[in-house]
Amino acid sequence: MSSKKFIIKESTRQRCKVFRVDSIDRRHFMPISMELFHFLYEAPTIDFSIFIRVDQEMVEYIKASELSKELLKHIWLASIKDDSEVEICVQSSDHAKFTRVIDSVRDQKIKRLVEREPALDSKTLFSFVNLSAASQMVLRGGINQEATRKVAAAASFMVSNLMDNNYSIATLSRMIQIDPSLYDHSAAVAMFSGIMGNASYQGKLSQKNVEALTQCGLYHDAGKACIPHAVLNKPGSFTPEEFEIMKTHAILGYKFLTKSIDEGASIERIVAEVALQHHERFTGKGYPHGKKGRLEEDPENGIHPFARIVAIADSYSALLMERVYKPALPAEEALRLLEANAVEHFDPLFFKPFVAALKKSLNLYEEKKGSLNGNIYVVEKGDNVAKKIMAKKNTKSQKEETPSQKNPHDAHVHDKNCDHETPSHKKLGA
Ligand SMILES: [Fe+2]
Ligand SMILES: [Fe+2]
Repeated sequence: MSSKKFIIKESTRQRCKVFRVDSIDRRHFMPISMELFHFLYEAPTIDFSIFIRVDQEMVEYIKASELSKELLKHIWLASIKDDSEVEICVQSSDHAKFTRVIDSVRDQKIKRLVEREPALDSKTLFSFVNLSAASQMVLRGGINQEATRKVAAAASFMVSNLMDNNYSIATLSRMIQIDPSLYDHSAAVAMFSGIMGNASYQGKLSQKNVEALTQCGLYHDAGKACIPHAVLNKPGSFTPEEFEIMKTHAILGYKFLTKSIDEGASIERIVAEVALQHHERFTGKGYPHGKKGRLEEDPENGIHPFARIVAIADSYSALLMERVYKPALPAEEALRLLEANAVEHFDPLFFKPFVAALKKSLNLYEEKKGSLNGNIYVVEKGDNVAKKIMAKKNTKSQKEETPSQKNPHDAHVHDKNCDHETPSHKKLGA
């Protein structure tokens, strides 16, 4: 961990309004998640101030209307210095304004994304954006009535609209390659989990249960809110001590969610259980309790089926994402790495249907993209079978979209943000 500590410079004190805040005053401010902070770079203007809290002091760093990339960069650098006591915030009373700006930037990004790649399924993207907004709300403001309602609504919308959508997995897997800034790990895990549950149980899981499973995915890393920023945002490998701290997010998430449920939050109990078990592994090599196998077969020490599903979604999503120590992986490469480790880590009961659904989705997506790119289909005389005879009118665009194989050996299935086995990020496939 770096020993650098952020201090408020004299020049900042002269330029900005600085005031002391105690824990009660802090309630008037909401922390901005790192993911959303980057959206501000694309906002043309803002009508609210952005603050940095440094220990007990609050700095009004950017005033309404004075948004500049330079100032945003300063804030960003301050927040990633080693210090859990540095936070980027907006006033709670400006929450609605902040949300409006973020929503409009996100809408623009989605629009540009679909213009650039029309094969992406817009229904999936819309549903994903809903889940992402809900997940960011939980990250920013914790678990409150508004956040749980938003999560439930987003999960329900997704389940009602996407369960028979064969393009969803491929759309999420491809969008991260086209615009990584739109990707949201928790929202993706929620969506992959819901889809996998539906596929594994062949549609026999009730809508209510698929929604609960989707929520399990969305809240699975809730405990990370309790991990010090310096560990959570550390660029590079963890020390063994840091890794031990990171691992506590499973138990912390369980406690945090259980407490919220006990206090009346409208969340199913299973969500807390899955937050606790999502790093357990089928062969007993996970954490925190080294559970093993299926709960259905071993009620004492088995892993809940929803946790076994979320574990797969979590690992796949982590492989797709870019990290300081690894590039974002194309879906095919992420799948290859997962398959190489499936026997050890995952329950085949869920993993096999997931792989099948993923492959089917990628194939359909590529077909759709091919036809949109100008491939020509003709009907053969005699047998009336449609056959593709010409491909790649737009060679350049095809080349761009071919899944990149760069640095395939630099991949780690154990993402540090979602990981379990080793702090040194064991390389796979190398
Ligand atoms: Fe995760
Ligand atoms: Fe996790």
